[in-house]
Amino acid sequence: MAVDGYLLKADGIHASYGKLEILHGVSLEVQPRELVSIIGPNGAGKSTAFKTIVGLLHPMPGRVLFDGRDITGLLPYQVLRLGLAYVPQGRIVFPQMTVLENLEMGAFIETDSSRVREGLERVYGLFPILAERRQQKAGTMSGGEQQMLAIGRSLMTTPKLILLDEPSLGLSPKFVTLIFEKLIEMKRAGYTLVVVEQNAAKALSVADRGYVLELGRNRFEGTGQALLNDPEVKRLYLGG
Ligand SMILES: Nc1ncnc2c1ncn2[C@@H]1O[C@H](COP(=O)(O)OP(=O)(O)OP(=O)(O)O)[C@@H](O)[C@H]1O
Ligand SMILES: [Mg+2]
Repeated sequence: MAVDGYLLKADGIHASYGKLEILHGVSLEVQPRELVSIIGPNGAGKSTAFKTIVGLLHPMPGRVLFDGRDITGLLPYQVLRLGLAYVPQGRIVFPQMTVLENLEMGAFIETDSSRVREGLERVYGLFPILAERRQQKAGTMSGGEQQMLAIGRSLMTTPKLILLDEPSLGLSPKFVTLIFEKLIEMKRAGYTLVVVEQNAAKALSVADRGYVLELGRNRFEGTGQALLNDPEVKRLYLGG
């Protein structure tokens, strides 16, 4: 259940690595069933914002509210249990394990085997290639296939919200297109998504709303279309 309509709200989050503060008060909101894109230059703090939301870092100060609760200070597995899934940057899979074993790992918080089976069906429905390759070692798959596996693994727990950090990074144009198609398909299927992307124009074009972060702060926000048409955003982040 969302309070005031939002599913996720990060409110003035500050975050540091050691003594070095990287986020200086970042705020964002996500409504149920939205696809929200976050763009911004390298080092802006996009990944750090995700890490803070999912509990890998703790905001000081700042608050993170999710699904009607204050989740500030919870640990990543607790956040995951509440329905907030996170696909980190760098398509991390277990290379020596099969596709199926990787997906089962995604369901580590599920104790009911019928829920695991339902999860597999859901993932195979969205990514038929993973069904075909279920016995293949994940490390032998292409980069794009590994990214689909990393996303699929996050769907094994029926998340209410999925944070995807750079899902298209380093992929060939064919797979970049495919990943964006999958994001649209996931949104249509009712998932709520927040995507950090280098591929700024593409990310804004599929987004309901977007945020531009710079130097650990909010710089611009608006609908995907409004940001795409904003002359400043165009000049600074969309290559003219
Ligand atoms: N574990 C860490 N320890 C110290 N500093 C870090 C650590 N991780 C990130 N940083 C620093 O925090 C800043 C923000 O990094 P972050 O990864 O959040 O940026 P980003 O916007 O995701 O960038 P990119 O587009 O390159 O992925 C950078 O200056 C980075 O060097
Ligand atoms: Mg990053």
